[in-house]
Amino acid sequence: MKKKILGLLMTATMVLGLLTGCGGGTSDTSGGTDKKETGDKGNDTTVTSTIEVGIILPTKDEPRWLQDQKQFETVLDSAGFTNQVLFSQASSETERKNVETLIEKGMKVLIMCPQDAAEASEAVEKAKEAGVTVISYDRLITDTEAVDYYVTFDSFAVGEAQGQYIVDNAPKGSDIPLYLYAGAASDNNAFLFFEGAWSILQPKIADGTFKIVNSKEAESMKDKADLSKDEIGKIIAEITTDWDFNVAKKKAEEHLSVAGAEYKGDVVVLAPNDGTSRAISDAFSADSAITNYVITGQDSEQASVQYIIDGKQSMTVFKDTRTLAADSVDMAVSILEGKTPNTDATYDNEKKEVPAKQASIVVVTKDNVKSALVDSGYYEASLFTGLE
Ligand code: BGC
Repeated sequence: MKKKILGLLMTATMVLGLLTGCGGGTSDTSGGTDKKETGDKGNDTTVTSTIEVGIILPTKDEPRWLQDQKQFETVLDSAGFTNQVLFSQASSETERKNVETLIEKGMKVLIMCPQDAAEASEAVEKAKEAGVTVISYDRLITDTEAVDYYVTFDSFAVGEAQGQYIVDNAPKGSDIPLYLYAGAASDNNAFLFFEGAWSILQPKIADGTFKIVNSKEAESMKDKADLSKDEIGKIIAEITTDWDFNVAKKKAEEHLSVAGAEYKGDVVVLAPNDGTSRAISDAFSADSAITNYVITGQDSEQASVQYIIDGKQSMTVFKDTRTLAADSVDMAVSILEGKTPNTDATYDNEKKEVPAKQASIVVVTKDNVKSALVDSGYYEASLFTGLE
């Protein structure tokens, strides 16, 4: 990892001379378009800051995206690029305004994680018209040709890891109750996560190891190994959390309140990410008829690391935001140098095959939490209690 950042800094330093108006970072942590102007322009307030690299993230209400913000600011500031991070706060309208603001500031590269995959198309089309190179970040922007590149984790592999953890750690026997939850239907990743998990869980549902508790649609498709996007969409419509902790908790409580005794006891739960996993875990731990539950997650959020140490969440998937931010900035550097960035995959966004750079993931459980997340320098040990 260190090597990668070092390489990046050298590349970035080499292009410094090519860039005009290079200064420190200009970052907005407000969530809206309310800007804090900084940079190395001294006290000359008449100079309008220019932004070379604009970053737009979906929300500051989920720790996952604050992790990404921190990594971007660190890498871009040390590479000497003027940059600004804006948040869409779950609104495609705010996202569009953020893009316009950054275009006005002369942005050359936009790195954007869409709030809503398809609705983001209009905003990035505007950026393209203004000559900006568009990198879709973590989530794919769909239904438009105005996406040049995609930098992402392997989201199918995230789902596979969640499914595999459930299979490997489920109680022995058959007819084990399986509760299914998914992300927001507006997020292309939610489909990939579910597809990956289904690829592992489906054979075990078909052979009677698991019985689905809370999705009639999934139950009706239990003999199908490969699902179309429409079919996954029908299942997601039933089990979506909308990536919202409150929705997740309420849904879990509702499911538990109608589930008969045969769906209680030792159960397994596919929870799509850490925030929803903690919320669903809270609902399951409050039900005295649930004797044990295996529950998944992803993102390695600080609060979930504590849940894992405390035995309240079984696993998380570590998606190292240092790698993703560095990969995106590497790509931005290549673009600003007039080179073709390195890619190793393609993703179909309904309008084109988008060249992509994919980062790998690591499964984290109580057994490797310290080595994966503390010894690697991602978190300070002092943030947690009970860490061995
Ligand atoms: C990201 C996850 C995140 C989720 C909710 C997904 O697109 O890949 O890491 O937990 O969105 O924000």
